[in-house]
Amino acid sequence: MTKINLTVDGSKVSDDVEPRMLLVQYLREKLGKTGTVVGCDTSNCGACTVHLDGTSVKSCNVLAVQAEGSEVTTIEGLATNGQLHPVQEAFRECHGLQCGYCTPGMIMQSIALLEENPSPTEEEIRLGLEGNLCRCTGYHNIVKAVQHAAGATSTTTGA
Ligand code: FES
Ligand code: FES
Repeated sequence: MTKINLTVDGSKVSDDVEPRMLLVQYLREKLGKTGTVVGCDTSNCGACTVHLDGTSVKSCNVLAVQAEGSEVTTIEGLATNGQLHPVQEAFRECHGLQCGYCTPGMIMQSIALLEENPSPTEEEIRLGLEGNLCRCTGYHNIVKAVQHAAGATSTTTGA
């Protein structure tokens, strides 16, 4: 077992973990943060995306011990005082989800994308989200949600 100390969604945590434990397992199984989900376990789908010291990572591709001393933000740490994060709100307003399974990862990746590029083009959004798969194939509204979050006024109406 290895001792790790980190901050998750603003709270300091300290645990003994097996060196092989994945960060996503740690978040879900030890901390009960089941908002971060596993879609593939092979770093393909992006459903498990979280922020590690401000950078988006696929948490099935990071060991818990690698997060030692770091700050992790999950989908569960975004809302403040009962207010959804603007990107969460945009996904809600634009209905950027169908079954919702990919949504936590999509939102975490979209936030990282918008931090890097606050006014992305549609192409840049699609490129920025290429590591996140939506099995419901609801990409159109996901892109609209990111545009909405970016403050872009949609020039078209309808779905
Ligand atoms: S579960 Fe991590 S990328 Fe699919
Ligand atoms: S909304 Fe179902 S997988 Fe994306």
